[in-house]
Amino acid sequence: ARIYVRGLAGELPRVPVEAAALEAAARRAMGARGYAYVAGSAGSEATALANRAAFERWRIVPRVLRDASSRSLEVELLGARLPAPLLLAPIGVLEAAHREADLAVARAAAAERVPFVFSSQASVPMEVCARAMRDAPRWFQLYWSTDDDLTRSFVRRAESSGCSAIVLTLDTTVLGWRPRDLALGSLPFLRGQGIAQYLSDPVFRSRLGEPLPQAEAAPLRPATLLAARELALKGRAYRLSLADMRRAVARFIATYSRPSLRWEDLARLREMTGLPLLLKGVLHPDDARTAAQAGMDGLIVSNHGGRQVDGAVAALDALPAVVAAAGPLPVLFDSGVRGGADVFKALALGARAVLIGRPYVYGLALAGEAGVREVIQNLRAELDLTLALAGCRTPEELNPGCLTSGL
Ligand code: FNR
Repeated sequence: ARIYVRGLAGELPRVPVEAAALEAAARRAMGARGYAYVAGSAGSEATALANRAAFERWRIVPRVLRDASSRSLEVELLGARLPAPLLLAPIGVLEAAHREADLAVARAAAAERVPFVFSSQASVPMEVCARAMRDAPRWFQLYWSTDDDLTRSFVRRAESSGCSAIVLTLDTTVLGWRPRDLALGSLPFLRGQGIAQYLSDPVFRSRLGEPLPQAEAAPLRPATLLAARELALKGRAYRLSLADMRRAVARFIATYSRPSLRWEDLARLREMTGLPLLLKGVLHPDDARTAAQAGMDGLIVSNHGGRQVDGAVAALDALPAVVAAAGPLPVLFDSGVRGGADVFKALALGARAVLIGRPYVYGLALAGEAGVREVIQNLRAELDLTLALAGCRTPEELNPGCLTSGL
């Protein structure tokens, strides 16, 4: 109601309410490269489209005369109460959307009490975001480096930054084939964007003095050379010379992810930390079962917003089987959530909570911290109204019986 009343007072929304309009407005506000990186998906983008189509196939079947006048969106997750079944997904290179990048998002998340999952590929070091969030909940998303000392350092830093869970992303062992970035001839990382967690890390920095292995020492491509000015500028913030920044980028590319990772390796991560561990990018029920046996604490069904495997199953289509296989493990969900009704559908199909992805980046691009807050508020309000109109009082009441696939 507060959101409608704001309009009566002549206060107009800072960001478009409807998802496509939000993206269109953000597109105009962002540079072509930034927009390509955020909006782009893998290959023909069939999976990104399938993510949306899967939501369209499910329909909510409202119930009447059930007194849903008093409602709560609160949910319990890993021993904590969340005010709503929402988190902000880990998103790298937020400087592509806004100068204040992760810091603006951290402030917005803290104000709305929505947990923010810090990305390994953030534009602002996690310590800086954590300080801005005070006691508000945050998690850390890890890409497991080929350098185990660096992985351990990231985990330590997440612990001392007050993160209450670690999300290990498994669907990005190598970067997907992204035509929109390819068409513009570059990736943000090559220009030194999105590597703040690395530049601020003592282990990573200690490695810069080492002679580069042969493959890394290969001459940089012209697009990278063009970025010299950007690199030099960024290097200044981290007291690194242009030569060291070039080495940092090369080392980041060579070590950010370990494609050889296997289930057995998870035991090492388990030993590294007492924090709850969640696996992100699980789509197959057998993987969900193995994760439960491996002592993991939760799963995130996600296809990375369609950015990795073109032609992969729509995340929502994978959700019910993963939930069935996960047993007692909480299952979270992302990929394709654009409105409150989508959150409702994911919860009804068994997700404990949902991660918001691109929409908050578009809010950030348009109005910084205030834009992110408004995107969160709109989603929460639409979810609340959908719950009410479907005849439900709490997210716990939702189940597959609230939906029909209409097929
Ligand atoms: C991502 N995502 C992501 N995931 C992750 O684990 N670590 C990361 O650093 C990033 N970076 C990233 C950058 C950008 C620009 C996007 C759009 C996505 C994936 C993200 O966490 C989430 O899975 C998707 O955004 C969900 O899809 P939608 O809802 O955004 O389409």
